[in-house]
Amino acid sequence: MSTTTAPRRAFDALITERGLAFGGDYNPEQWAPDVWREDVELMQQAGVNLVTVGVFSWATIEPTPGAREWAWLDEVLDLLHAGGIAVDLASPVASPPPWLGIRHPETLPVDRDGVRLIPGSRNQFSPASRVYRQHAAAITRDLAERYADHPAVRMWHVGNEYGQIDHGDEAAREFRLWLRRRYGTIETLNEAWGTAFWSQHYADFDEILPPRRMPYLVNPTQSLDFRRYSSDQLLECYRELRDVIRDAGASQPITTNFMGFHALTDYWAWAGDIDVISDDQYPDPASPHAPADIALVQDLMRSLGDGRSWVLMEQAISATSWREHNLPKSPLRARRDSLQAVARGADAVCYFQWRQARAGAERFHSAMLPHAGADSDVFRGVRRQGDDLKKLSPVAGARIDADVAILFDWSSWWAGEEPARPTARLNTMAEITRWYRELWRRGVAADVVPAASDFSGYRTILVPHSYIVEPHTAAALHRAVEAGAHVVVGPFSGVADANAQVLTGRSPVLLRALVGVSGEEWGGVPDAGSPLAADERWDAGRTLPEPSARILAERLRSEGADVLARHTIGDLAGVPALARHDVGDGTAWYLGAVVDDATLSALIGDVLAAAGVTDAFGASAGVLPEGLEAVRRGDVLFLLNHADTPLDITVEGSRIDLLTGEETNGSVGIAPGEVRALTERRTW
Ligand code: GLA
Repeated sequence: MSTTTAPRRAFDALITERGLAFGGDYNPEQWAPDVWREDVELMQQAGVNLVTVGVFSWATIEPTPGAREWAWLDEVLDLLHAGGIAVDLASPVASPPPWLGIRHPETLPVDRDGVRLIPGSRNQFSPASRVYRQHAAAITRDLAERYADHPAVRMWHVGNEYGQIDHGDEAAREFRLWLRRRYGTIETLNEAWGTAFWSQHYADFDEILPPRRMPYLVNPTQSLDFRRYSSDQLLECYRELRDVIRDAGASQPITTNFMGFHALTDYWAWAGDIDVISDDQYPDPASPHAPADIALVQDLMRSLGDGRSWVLMEQAISATSWREHNLPKSPLRARRDSLQAVARGADAVCYFQWRQARAGAERFHSAMLPHAGADSDVFRGVRRQGDDLKKLSPVAGARIDADVAILFDWSSWWAGEEPARPTARLNTMAEITRWYRELWRRGVAADVVPAASDFSGYRTILVPHSYIVEPHTAAALHRAVEAGAHVVVGPFSGVADANAQVLTGRSPVLLRALVGVSGEEWGGVPDAGSPLAADERWDAGRTLPEPSARILAERLRSEGADVLARHTIGDLAGVPALARHDVGDGTAWYLGAVVDDATLSALIGDVLAAAGVTDAFGASAGVLPEGLEAVRRGDVLFLLNHADTPLDITVEGSRIDLLTGEETNGSVGIAPGEVRALTERRTW
């Protein structure tokens, strides 16, 4: 576990002082000063105690090159401070003013088709542009020097949702520099990229370009490295401004808002540079899987922060406006979403945004204070949330203990999604999500872990689909099993090395001895699926659902593992699909095919039972009643009812619901959409 830094302690101190943080993005530059006063008053009514100010204020502060308009911001910060509302002050670099792109077109990003994007929206900057970076640093320096000691400012927010990509000439220069640092010599790069294929050999780094539009498939390692470079380049932008803020004397925590499993940023590489992990979460109310799927994102955020509490920086109080079809959330649903984040480790619950915009592209995006004003169900719901969060203060800082780890790594995701594979239907996120849902349905806590983990301390480690497995990961998994863990490796894992080059030998090459099976070919499965027969060692005493493989299967043979299920028809008839191998004090399970949900559920249930993993109630981890989410944070057992019907749950002993103050004994009723936060200890 990494050490707690002074800025992180400053965040914890803020929460201790004010309780769980509650608020949202506040964009006062869009409103007249008399509205600011009303805002502060209504924020106070709602229990808002933290707002992010200035995310998109660059053009207001610097309307012409070099100008500095601070008066409005001075007034806003003073008003907020007087109102007892802390500020997360943003360096406004996500949306440069139009003049920057017009005067310096090289600051504008170029897409892979060579089209230069123009001002008029937001995010129109190239992370590689020196001129952009100079201007971003200059405004950030002046902002930080002016407000480092302002008593309202308790946190800094760099940029917004870093996730830009650029294929322009400056990006080409930076990409080449990045490649020089990674490979040293051009011949090492040629080796790593396998450029003997299709006559791609490079004589010099200067010949290399970003993967712009090409006649046919791009070299997969070039593509992987460009993704790695792009993430690193954005991280450099963040670090530069973080350092500028620190150098200006600011001691507050510094953060930037992540975007869950975002495809352009390797957050494992970023996390160490972020004082408090923050995330923007917009689960789709139209998806029945939203509660489980957002729980996975929340567990990732907790894991990125080494188990520490995190900030839900943005969510929607009701509808978004960027989907094609936007369903509103009821106030009850919005409350449940917020409390779910707290249950899963958030110490701050914030929204995009405080006051709904009248103008601009997001005029129909919901906000805490809607167009209709304070006399609205939405705002009444906001006030209720403010009250609820006060009641949940006892959980602030509390951790979640997990016996299960689920492996997720960005390089593997990137390399595993390159085109021209046995099947384009195998989707890394879909597999991780399907496996995780089985934990969620059982109320089992899980950490998300990177490939560089040592995995010690976990009873169960799930590897749903990890295309790249490097020697250190294979060795760490082996050690974990020897020491007693149950490791489950899913299909098409351990296929390639760090350069995305396929490992030769029977697969999974580096995990072969561990899993006790090996394969020689992966193939797409016909649309009808490939029926499986469970061996009675697996099926004994019960009847498994009729298992079936789909999407992708591997031609396997056992090399010492017990075969638990085999394909029954066609070319694969008799080929193992699932095997179990005891090694040392633990067990490795190998799934050589993508299987249907019911089979996956049976497998994960069996692994958890064999590993002695318990659920949030401390019981053996069976499937909970439909719609129930159970998670234990510190001493508090959170029970959330995501179903449309009431639930009646048995919870041993006498408990107090922090939200209602009610005492429960044995049976706990949870109305649809409701949440219980049960503690054994009286905290007031
Ligand atoms: C993102 C952005 C916000 C806003 C919201 C709308 O999270 O950071 O500025 O655009 O989306 O959902």
